[in-house]
Amino acid sequence: MAAQSPRIRVRPGPRGLLLPLLLSAAAWPLGWAQGDEFRPGQWGAAAEGAAGAARGRRYLLYDVNPPEGFNLRRDVYIRVASLVKTLLRSEEWVLVLPPWGRLYHWQSPDIHQVRIPWAEFFDLPSLARNIPVIEYEQFMAESGGPFIEQVYVLQSYAEGWKEGTWEEKIDQRPCIDQLLYSRDKHEYYRGWFWGYEETRGLSVSCLSVQGSASIVAPVLLKNTSARSVMLDRAENLLHDHYGGKEYWDTRRSMVFAKHLRVVGDDFRSKYLNSTDAADKTIYHEDWTKMKVKLGTSLGGPYLAVHLRRKDFVWGHREDVPSLQGAVKTIRSLMETHKLDRVFVATDAVRKECEELKKLLPEMVRFEPTWEELELYKDGGIAIIDQWICAHARVFIGTSVSTFSFRIHEEREILGLDPKTTYNRFCGDQEQQCEQPTHWKIAY
Ligand SMILES: *[C@@H]1O[C@H](CO)[C@@H](O)[C@H](O)[C@H]1NC(C)=O
Ligand SMILES: *[C@@H]1O[C@H](CO)[C@@H](O)[C@H](O)[C@H]1NC(C)=O
Repeated sequence: MAAQSPRIRVRPGPRGLLLPLLLSAAAWPLGWAQGDEFRPGQWGAAAEGAAGAARGRRYLLYDVNPPEGFNLRRDVYIRVASLVKTLLRSEEWVLVLPPWGRLYHWQSPDIHQVRIPWAEFFDLPSLARNIPVIEYEQFMAESGGPFIEQVYVLQSYAEGWKEGTWEEKIDQRPCIDQLLYSRDKHEYYRGWFWGYEETRGLSVSCLSVQGSASIVAPVLLKNTSARSVMLDRAENLLHDHYGGKEYWDTRRSMVFAKHLRVVGDDFRSKYLNSTDAADKTIYHEDWTKMKVKLGTSLGGPYLAVHLRRKDFVWGHREDVPSLQGAVKTIRSLMETHKLDRVFVATDAVRKECEELKKLLPEMVRFEPTWEELELYKDGGIAIIDQWICAHARVFIGTSVSTFSFRIHEEREILGLDPKTTYNRFCGDQEQQCEQPTHWKIAY
């Protein structure tokens, strides 16, 4: 029924206003004819009511500080998801998944890497078993266009916080940093909206926040009636309850997209003699039905290594090994666990990779062709690497790397023995080499 899915074309009108042109006369709202002021976002309720989809629900959008990488962003998703759960106790909200792109680590040249929907990396039905989610394009279609009614930029408190007096609080405050949004000639806010240049904000203000994600809930429920609210710099929110059941439910719902898992599985079987049946790594497509007793999964007959380089090395961190040091550890682990294959995931520059290959000629890497890279993108390649690392008999990662942390969680979900998971390289001169913490899943 085409009449019930309004298409809106926007053209500049008199007095500099934007006039929406509905191509479908049947959906022409009464208010318009009566001269009501156009308010972006208002179409959604009427149109969707007819389509029976949105029922006047409200939309939560968010973004993260641009320099933050893929694996930290996955952690921020967990925090925002717990805010959504809190909101859902009072009202109907849906989380709009922030399109991926423009990430610092995604440096493959000549590949279009903005406006990437979540479905390219994650399984949407799995996410939706945890909280209601939609892609950004769906938000635009159902809310009536590329408008976000209220943008809150989250920031800390200008005065910092006094030691010993931690309290959770949130207040509207003047913006501390210069706003990255500017007003266009129609008084709309323009800025970075995941590469959607036509998207505009109607109102932007700053909130100083100190506390966990759900502290924003009262503000969203009581202080604003905007139907679409974006929280920018959402990494300023802390976890409601790190490591709790709600945390793990969300984490478990972040199932990798099937097409990426298939690529990883093919690679395992082809180069690492690793299959789910032989490795006893049973996977259930429905994460809510997956609960594996730790240690019952065996993992494939290989050692997996995540060797984070680049800025971890340039910063001369003492908890990061030299290549020689890393290879020494790798050889010793292979010997201890009687493994003759080793899979390496690394962001090392080409020169370092060549050096590593000389020191460890038997190592196996997932090296995408240009076509594969274009298809899966840097994010997909990272996921394939993580999927292969997650299935190894033994894993060793890099100290305080979010890439390694996400592998820990994946192995925990798969039910591998914690002794084979929570390992990291030590710096060549590191005195106390504390190993990663074991976070148990709360089911
Ligand atoms: C929200 O509204 C309450 C009550 O009017 C007010 O006290 C509070 O400062 C407001 N909070 C924010 C963040 O605007
Ligand atoms: C592959 O693994 C199986 C056990 O799952 C083993 O019997 C077989 O010898 C292995 N093949 C190679 C080539 O290592």
